[in-house]
Amino acid sequence: PILIIDFGSQVTQLIARRIREAGVYCEIVPFAKAEEGFDRLNPGAVILSGSPASVTDENGPLAPTRILNAGLPILGICYGEQLICHQMGGKVEPGETREFGRAEITITDDCKLFEGLWPKGATPQVWMSHGDRVTALPPGFRAVAVSEGAPFAAIANDARKIYAVQFHPEVVHTPDGAKLLSRFVHEVAGLKADWTMNAFREAEIARIRAQVGKGRVICGLSGGVDSSVVAVLLHEAIGDQLTCVFVDTGMMRSGEADEVVTLFRDHYNIRLIHSDASALFLEKLAGVTDPEQKRKIIGATFIDVFEQEAKAIGGADFLAQGTLYPDVIESVSFSGGPSVTIKSHHNVGGLPARMRMKLVEPLRELFKDEVRALGRELGLPPAFVGRHPFPGPGLAIRMPGAITFEGLEILRKADKIYLEEIRKAGLYDEIWQAFAVLLPVRTVGVMGDGRTYDQVCGLRAVTSVDGMTADSYPFEHAFLSRVATRIINEVRGINRVVYDITSKPPGTIEWE
Ligand code: XMP
Repeated sequence: PILIIDFGSQVTQLIARRIREAGVYCEIVPFAKAEEGFDRLNPGAVILSGSPASVTDENGPLAPTRILNAGLPILGICYGEQLICHQMGGKVEPGETREFGRAEITITDDCKLFEGLWPKGATPQVWMSHGDRVTALPPGFRAVAVSEGAPFAAIANDARKIYAVQFHPEVVHTPDGAKLLSRFVHEVAGLKADWTMNAFREAEIARIRAQVGKGRVICGLSGGVDSSVVAVLLHEAIGDQLTCVFVDTGMMRSGEADEVVTLFRDHYNIRLIHSDASALFLEKLAGVTDPEQKRKIIGATFIDVFEQEAKAIGGADFLAQGTLYPDVIESVSFSGGPSVTIKSHHNVGGLPARMRMKLVEPLRELFKDEVRALGRELGLPPAFVGRHPFPGPGLAIRMPGAITFEGLEILRKADKIYLEEIRKAGLYDEIWQAFAVLLPVRTVGVMGDGRTYDQVCGLRAVTSVDGMTADSYPFEHAFLSRVATRIINEVRGINRVVYDITSKPPGTIEWE
């Protein structure tokens, strides 16, 4: 494996994803726990990340000398390059000009890292983001690339297999970046591409069996990708020791509940409890209009129903959760000095402690794209694996104002038509999330010879990489007209359709 020491860059996770894509397992550890991670992982190479900090600061975080001198291949990125220079006998000074964004570097010498990718004289495009600059190299190093703002845009010590770059190869704005990282992993460090979802599947099944023994496991199944993959993987590992509980909140999309039950109970033969609690959820939500209140009610009711079902089957020793790697990476933050914070994740908040269950989290080492690959590996239908994310509170937060069964039915019909048309146009996979919203607003229309006074349907579609930022999808006008016409003709209760063109920020993806 590869150890990535994180000094707090915003894009450290991208380094890990590129390394995994190159077929090598890696983990990110915060700099303050680098030695611990080093001893636990026993890595074949080390990568030092970027950072908002400065090595010229007295308190700038350092890499443990023991790791720098362990004789392993090392790649320093941005702050990582400055650390290598600073700690190995070179010099770093605050730069007068900041270099930020797209830049061109010139390759001034050959080295093992660039071989076959960037020959001497090449001028690849890269992404820069730094203020300080290296002004003297440590003994044994030479410059192999320059940029306008950095005479040492890349440096090499071939004998010690230590390389460093001032730019960020992990971001897509460095077009050859992934290839460069792959060269470091395979050619420089000599590591084999043995991290595949097939190998993970086998290893994880063994690990689950060892952890669970003869114990009983309960798993909340939502129909989303993460919980579906957890369920199928666990079923493969422990068969009928697993019981899945599908809490039907009544806030699901058209046909979704049936799909989940058919796939997991009938196709996979998984013990599945289909708890239809839609009436209870509707009752609890009656008259509630505040979005946060809706979320709280749904969360609490979900836990009640889940707990009741768990009791009904005589309890369980373990609760399975679809926690992913981004939820468990300890993040480094520099607000008010270096500190380490841990994000915790609860799909079913508080349940494990309340019910005295231990956790099984078979996906906690995986990124989302790896979960999808594992799902395909496990034979989940491609359409299931490629699904858009769907929020836990479901349609309740796509219907501003009070929730009624009639409203949900109207929304389900409109949403179904919209998604049908998106799939028909071949656009589904280009879009991060697409859905209809039912507004508590009535407007006047004419249909045939009559006047109508019905509700407004909002359409939303966004592109995004991680849901943190998003852009509205630029549909062609003809497509939107087609969807609007179908919805107004086919769904009684809607007589006007609007398209939401707000990006995030300042908007959010959902309307509530
Ligand atoms: P926003 O609306 O905050 O959404 O831009 C970002 C992503 O999170 C999803 N989302 C939720 N998921 N419970 C969830 O499980 C929620 O309460 C919730 N609210 C938003 C949203 O669908 C999008 O993918």
